[in-house]
Amino acid sequence: MALKELNRQELLRDLALCGCGLADERSTRFAAEGAHDPTATRYFVLEQLFAQLDLDESSHLLDVGCGKGRALAYFAEAKLPGCATGVELDPDLARTAQAWTENFEQLSVIEGSALSVPLRRFTHFYLFNPFDSPILEQFVEKIEAETRRPITLCHMSDNGENYLFMGRSGWRLQSEGWIHIHQGAPVFGCPQHWSIWKFDPAAR
Ligand SMILES: C[S@@+](CC[C@H](N)C(=O)[O-])C[C@H]1O[C@@H](n2cnc3c(N)ncnc32)[C@H](O)[C@@H]1O
Repeated sequence: MALKELNRQELLRDLALCGCGLADERSTRFAAEGAHDPTATRYFVLEQLFAQLDLDESSHLLDVGCGKGRALAYFAEAKLPGCATGVELDPDLARTAQAWTENFEQLSVIEGSALSVPLRRFTHFYLFNPFDSPILEQFVEKIEAETRRPITLCHMSDNGENYLFMGRSGWRLQSEGWIHIHQGAPVFGCPQHWSIWKFDPAAR
């Protein structure tokens, strides 16, 4: 499928659920704080990754750097169990996500840095390339410091930074792979690596 047609179909999906488009091609205004651009995850990627998260009614997913909320939209559209929260550094994006998620009781959005959010209530984390490696390392250390029960974390980026999780005490790789081609056409500038990790504080 041509990229243009994929974009059109994703926009229709966004509009049906949220009443607004959730893709954003702008560059971030927060690069000095280590933020990456607000690229939304493709729906077909979310279908593939979230199916592997073993969510249940007691799950609480945090989308770290939620942008306008595409991952939250998929969570609601797919009627996944549990609830999902997004945290977003860029106030404009956070406000857009807050506005449409108000209609869904299982969704919420926090404006601010993921480094300031208490993490103990979350069972699952989704990170699509939100920030630079030094911030990612701080966030991983924050999970280790605050988590009191096993959690599942899904990370995706094009810069190979999943090495940050390797060899850390308590972390175990569940599955990993690459995404680049969808229905015969490349959909990312370069292949995206994803990995799903379990962290058990009791195993440290
Ligand atoms: C690649 S986008 C991912 C969007 C969304 N998670 C999705 O999958 O559709 C990364 C987002 O992370 C946000 N971000 C960067 N640093 C952040 C931080 N410290 N705390 C919260 N959000 C952050 C950026 O502003 C950007 O919107």
